[in-house]
Amino acid sequence: MTLCSGPNNGPRYCPLRPFPFLLLSLLTPPVSASSNRQQQPWASPPPQGVLPVGLRSPLAPPAMASTTASPPPAAGDHPRVLLRGLLSRETCKELEFVHRSCGAAGYRPSVVSTSLPHLAATGCGHLLLPFVPVRERLRDAVESFFDCLFDVFIEFTGLISWCKGASIGWHSDDNKPYLRQRAFTAVCYLNNHGEDYKGGILQFQDGDPSSIVPVAGDVVIYTADNRNVHCVTEVTEGERLTLTLWFTRDRAYNEDPKLLTFLSQTSLSCEPTKQKFYIPMPASDNMYWFSCDQSGFDIRCARVHVLGFSFHSSSGEYSTSVLPTEDDPVELLGKQLRLGRGDDVFDKIFSNSLHALQVVQFYYWKAPELAARREQSAVGSRTVRYPVIIHHSRGTELPLPCNHTLAQTIFGSVNTAEIAFKWNDFALGVAMWENYSEDLKKQLLTFLPFWLSNESIFVVDSSELQRAEPI
Ligand SMILES: *[C@@H]1O[C@H](CO)[C@@H](O)[C@H](O)[C@H]1NC(C)=O
Ligand SMILES: *[C@@H]1O[C@H](CO)[C@@H](O)[C@H](O)[C@H]1NC(C)=O
Ligand SMILES: *[C@@H]1O[C@H](CO)[C@@H](O)[C@H](O)[C@H]1NC(C)=O
Repeated sequence: MTLCSGPNNGPRYCPLRPFPFLLLSLLTPPVSASSNRQQQPWASPPPQGVLPVGLRSPLAPPAMASTTASPPPAAGDHPRVLLRGLLSRETCKELEFVHRSCGAAGYRPSVVSTSLPHLAATGCGHLLLPFVPVRERLRDAVESFFDCLFDVFIEFTGLISWCKGASIGWHSDDNKPYLRQRAFTAVCYLNNHGEDYKGGILQFQDGDPSSIVPVAGDVVIYTADNRNVHCVTEVTEGERLTLTLWFTRDRAYNEDPKLLTFLSQTSLSCEPTKQKFYIPMPASDNMYWFSCDQSGFDIRCARVHVLGFSFHSSSGEYSTSVLPTEDDPVELLGKQLRLGRGDDVFDKIFSNSLHALQVVQFYYWKAPELAARREQSAVGSRTVRYPVIIHHSRGTELPLPCNHTLAQTIFGSVNTAEIAFKWNDFALGVAMWENYSEDLKKQLLTFLPFWLSNESIFVVDSSELQRAEPI
């Protein structure tokens, strides 16, 4: 039985035990809308013979250890499972990069989200690629665990981060009339409780253990119905990042055909000659406005600010005259600009703030690799040099609406890794980002015809590509 495997080990299922039945009667009903819901008959076959206990990960945390001696959970009571280490550290980091470069204000206060349609709409369709194998593995995991004898479609895929102050009370994921199509949920943790944020514990109303402390790479999957009523405790510090997927049995809610329509319009129609065709294009400015405590900030400004950068005008000496006096300064974020740090302004002109932000995030993602490459080239005889021209006092800092204190509180991570910033590394990072983006864009254009003909987004293996080659 090869259900799903961790990056290094075999299957790593950790079945959760059902809640002791005596306590069930003591629980108060959920306060959310789900409290008045009628019991829905569960339409799918219940999971059978969940998993041999022997398959439990040896790395299970102490909270799970007590289940070792227990029989597998009674199938159907609260069908859910925690899969440890399903995503590699590198996958988590790459998705984090995507979110920190592209995320927009979320559907609730103190939430930032990056949905796949948003990526496609902002010229970043190629950034869907890191999601593709992950979506496939998660769907396989859901199908295996819930023993699905029917088609399961992905209804929604998105990166969602919860910032200070975000929480949610008891609810089930299908508890609104317009959410009834949801059958299963998969939540993948991309960063670590304790290190990257505080709070944000997932708690189930019934079942044992009742709470899950997020660890990067772990995935929890559960039925979206009222057998898995849950809440998330308030995030008190930092940014809690997840990749969240909902699955449906109803083909009409499959997100792939809609995404493909979008992708074929946005990715095939753009003129490669006009500008580098992987340069992101910002959505409307209000989508980046994060409001909090009668104050707020533009997410793009805040993200670069907490990493020590600022946006500067693209033109030099006569900078004050280029600043529009009547226009909303936020509009400057859609125009060409430079990046500054302290007294330095980097020479390169970026197409817009999202372009600059994406490069900054890429630099932070790759910082250890960049530093290693610098050291290698310093030791080697053929020293590679990337000319960096830094101007002091060139390009005025843009007068953007950003409450820096608030930005620091919201995005200034508990665990901002101390990296020794070097403009040379940054310049190399710019070149690497261009390669990375170009590679992904090429892959997207290669895969898109396969996806369009299948009406689904999937990992196209090389044999299929070769077969198609002669045409
Ligand atoms: C910035 O946000 C803080 C809340 O974090 C608030 O107290 C302060 O008044 C805000 N400053 C401005 C200029 O809006
Ligand atoms: C980018 O790709 C080109 C061609 O593959 C390669 O020669 C170059 O070294 C790459 N640049 C970086 C910074 O990795
Ligand atoms: C794509 O569609 C073809 C033809 O319908 C089918 O043979 C193939 O299995 C599909 N591939 C995937 C990955 O769905």
